[in-house]
This record gives sequence, structure tokens and C-alpha cells, in this order.
Amino acid sequence: MEKLAESGSGAVKRRARYFAVASAGFCLTLAISANAAEPARAAIASAHPLATAAGERMLARGGNACDAAVAVAAALAVVEPYSSGLGGGGFFLLHRATDGRQVMIDAREVAPQAIRPEHFFDASGHPKVGATVRGGTATAIPGVPAALDHLTHSCATMSLAQTLEPAIRLARDGFRVDRRYARIAQMRESLLRATPETRVFLDDGRAPDPGFVLLQPQLAATLERIAREGAAAAFYRGPVARGMVDAVNAAGGAWQLSDLENYRVIEREPLRFTYRGATITAAALPSAGGIALAQVFGILGHFPAGDAHDPRTAHLVVEALRRAFRDRSLLGDPDHVSIPLAVIDEGRIKKQAADIDPRRASVLPPATAADADGSGNTTHFSIIDAAGNRVAATLTINLLFGSGVVGRGSGVLLNNEMDDFTLRADLANSFRLRGGEANAMAPGKRPLSSMTPAFVEDGKGVLVLGAPGGSRIISQVLLAALEYLRHPVVDLRRLVALPRYHHQYWPDHVEMEPEGFSDEWRNAMSGMGHRLHVVNRRWGNLQAVFQPKGNGAAQAASDPRGGDVAWY
Ligand code: GLY
Repeated sequence: MEKLAESGSGAVKRRARYFAVASAGFCLTLAISANAAEPARAAIASAHPLATAAGERMLARGGNACDAAVAVAAALAVVEPYSSGLGGGGFFLLHRATDGRQVMIDAREVAPQAIRPEHFFDASGHPKVGATVRGGTATAIPGVPAALDHLTHSCATMSLAQTLEPAIRLARDGFRVDRRYARIAQMRESLLRATPETRVFLDDGRAPDPGFVLLQPQLAATLERIAREGAAAAFYRGPVARGMVDAVNAAGGAWQLSDLENYRVIEREPLRFTYRGATITAAALPSAGGIALAQVFGILGHFPAGDAHDPRTAHLVVEALRRAFRDRSLLGDPDHVSIPLAVIDEGRIKKQAADIDPRRASVLPPATAADADGSGNTTHFSIIDAAGNRVAATLTINLLFGSGVVGRGSGVLLNNEMDDFTLRADLANSFRLRGGEANAMAPGKRPLSSMTPAFVEDGKGVLVLGAPGGSRIISQVLLAALEYLRHPVVDLRRLVALPRYHHQYWPDHVEMEPEGFSDEWRNAMSGMGHRLHVVNRRWGNLQAVFQPKGNGAAQAASDPRGGDVAWY
């Protein structure tokens, strides 16, 4: 991709005047523009205030959305080590303002070449407990460092030394952990106690209290190397690469140095479709997210528009999700299997919509190829710069604190993304997802994802959004996009806070957050035949920014479920 925006201090200074900083948690608006009356035109929403501040610093120094994205992604790797990081992967959805070019940077992890069924099944064919979630067999080859290189060479205006500087400082000098960190470390204390390398995330072998200063000197040194030499030389080769291979293999895995040397990000065409006049752009395969959104919006387009929190429309949303997740079993890495793109064929979507009874939940058999004829874990950030460039990035190491394997000497905590493959059609993964042959494990293959960074454009402006949450990412993005499209005036804070429900075909029930659904709603849904399953805690952590058409101010909002940490 060419540079997102022209570099040069003139342009940079002109843009910098339009910035304003706010910490939504304290309702403080601090204008740093030369003219405080000018509306802010740039916005960042991320899951952590220190990461948001890192991106804001790049914009204030004249960087563009790509510069900010590198800084935010690297800072998140330090301050949210349980969610994403150098040892993980993700998808970056980019929009270049000058010509509207959009591209998805696929930085998904890749299965190592030497991985074999016997790593996951015993001699009698029984799955080995925990093999896809813990230890060396759970880890896939990371993509985030390659994405940082790629963004720097393709669209950023600043060097890695500049964009990684905040992350290096946070890792070297430390930062005070928040309540969220303390809670998650408590949940994963036994995993983190298991090795000297993972004990770095604890306070003397125990989950720290909020306020504890977390130091990650080895990770700081790895980031410094990448800042000097780039990730290709400093991460995918040399001592950092050898340290990861040693640690993974000592923990039962099967990595080779060549797996790392051969890792490449892939530029892919994002998935784009329209819904009632709006254009929606979202992650393409190997994320199932964009396809699921296209199906759900396509089906809903055959019914009158309604409030997705009204039971009549909620029923349709659930029925559409049921069908989209049913078809998910046909999807996998498009470079390894042939994907029936007819899943989102207009004729098929029309038929799926016609099959829905507007008053009754349906019962569907599993999808077969013939049917297609004719978060805490994961993180997301959204950025719009003053020139109109955009980045929506969803990054992950999969489950909280990933596989628990840390590269020797590098401080790089590795993912457990192998759990996103389908081990066998009757075995659900950690997100209760069952899949099909298309997502079977294979050397060099990318596991199917639900990560759904997205842009929604309509007459009001553009919404950039995404979320963590495994399979529930798709319904979070869907419900937020439906709410955005329904109202002529955008209330971003309401949009990220709305109560959530979800359906993923199997298990066959509507998952609901514990709050926000009245008895009337529950009775109406049950009356239509939906089984309701109240989940004991709220989920997700939506990060959204909105830039209105014309001269209005850009806005950012972070999900209150994750702590309100937006910059705008
Ligand atoms: N690791 C969760 C996902 O990619 O969907």
C-alpha cells in the first residue's frame, strides 16, 4: 500500500492544529489546537488509556493513522499482555483518504510446518486435554511484528524507533496495572506461576494488586531491537527467534526457525457490501466476521428496519445469526481450501430470509458443502486521523495470557491460536465453536477467526469499530452497526454500552448479558421458541470512533465494560 497521507512537516503541522485530547473517564477536554474553537478531526479509541495516549502522541507529532496504529498496537502489547502482543496476530483494516483505497493486512498466525495430528490426539484417537490451549502445541507463528514492519514500510510516515518509543518506555520503566489486569492475572495465576518467564506478570508469584508497577525488561529489549533493525531481522531471525523456538519446543511444540523466517503478512481485499444505502467494509477470510456480517445484513435487508433490541427485530437478528454461524463451518483459510463464496450469494441470502418465520425460532440441521451451492482476550482499536485515514485493528493472542509460553530471553508471550482450528467436527473450541473440514488444522494454514474490524459509512459520516470476544465479536459489531444506522444523530457512548445478545447456531440458545433485558423481552423471545441463556457477566469491549461528514467534531468511545479509555 502506498503512503496513507503525504509526509512532510507542513502538512503534518497543519493537521496537528486540529487535534484535541480528552480522557473520557474524567470528562476532561483539553484542546491542544492553535485554535481551540476548531473541532477535533482525529480520534482514537483503544482498550487502554496508555495505548491511546501513545497513538495520540504520534498524531500530535504530525503522524498519520498508520503511525498511531503502530504505536497503539505496540503499547497494547505491553499494557494488555493478556490480550494481544508480539506473540500474537490480528487484522488491520486500512482506509487511505487520498483515493479511498482500502486493504486488510492479514497478520493472522500460521500453524507450524511440523505440526501433526499426534500432537493433539493420543494413540486411541482421543483428544489430548489442553493441547490446543496450553504449552508449545497451542502456539502458532505470530504475525503482529510483521504487521508493524509492513505498516511502517507501506503507510506510516515515522520510523519504528519513533512509533515504538512509548511501548519501549512502558515495558522498561513499567506502568501501574489497573483493576482489570489484577483480575485477569488472578484468573490465570496458576498458568503464570508455571515458569520463571511468565512469573514476570506476577508480583512475587502472586497476582498483583492494582497499582503494582509491572516491569518487562526483556520485552523492552526485544522492542528496542525491532525499533533498530525491523521485525524481519530482529524478531523472525536471530536470538529472539531462537529463544521462541527453544521455549515452544521445550513445552512440547514443534516450531522450526524456518517457520518464523517464512512468515509473511498478506494484503487482502476487505469484504464490502451495502445495507439500506450504507456501505460496510469488514475483515475478509481467514476471518469469518465479514462474511457473517454480510449474510446477517443481507438477510435483515429483506425485512422492515427495526430496533435490534425490540423482540420482533431481535428475533430476526437471532435467526440471521443462526444461519450465518451455521455456514461458518464451511469457512477456513482461503489459501488452503476452496471456500464456497456462494454463502453470500444474493439469491441464497434471499432464500435464507424467506425461510425465516417472523414469529417462530427455527431448527436447522448442520451445514454441508451442498448447502453452499448457488474478548478480556483479544483487543481492538479504532483510529481516524485529521486527513480522514482510518485504521480498525483487532489483535489477539487468543485466550487470556495465551499459551503461557514465553520466548526464552525475549519476554514475548506466545498465543494459543491453534485452538481456533477445528480439531474434529464434534469438538467445540474454547468459544464453543464447532467447525468443519475447511478449518481443519494443517501446516502453514491460518486458523479461522471471528475478529471483525469494520467501517460503516452512510450519509452521517463514517464509523470505525471492532471488539474482542471470540465468536461474540461478530454480534457485538452487528448490534452496534445496526444501532448506528438506525439513528440520524450518533450517540457513540450509548452505542458501545447497549446490552448484548448473541447466537452462534450451536449451542442452540440466545446468549444474553445479565442486565438490560426486561421480563417482557424475555417472555416475547421465549414465546417465539428461543431458548435463552443468561451469561453471568457482560462481555466485550467495543472501541468506536466516528467522523461526521462536513466539519463536525470526531468522537471516540470505549465500551464501559472495559473501562472508558477513549481519546478524542
Ligand atoms: N482468537 C479469536 C478469533 O480470532 O476469533
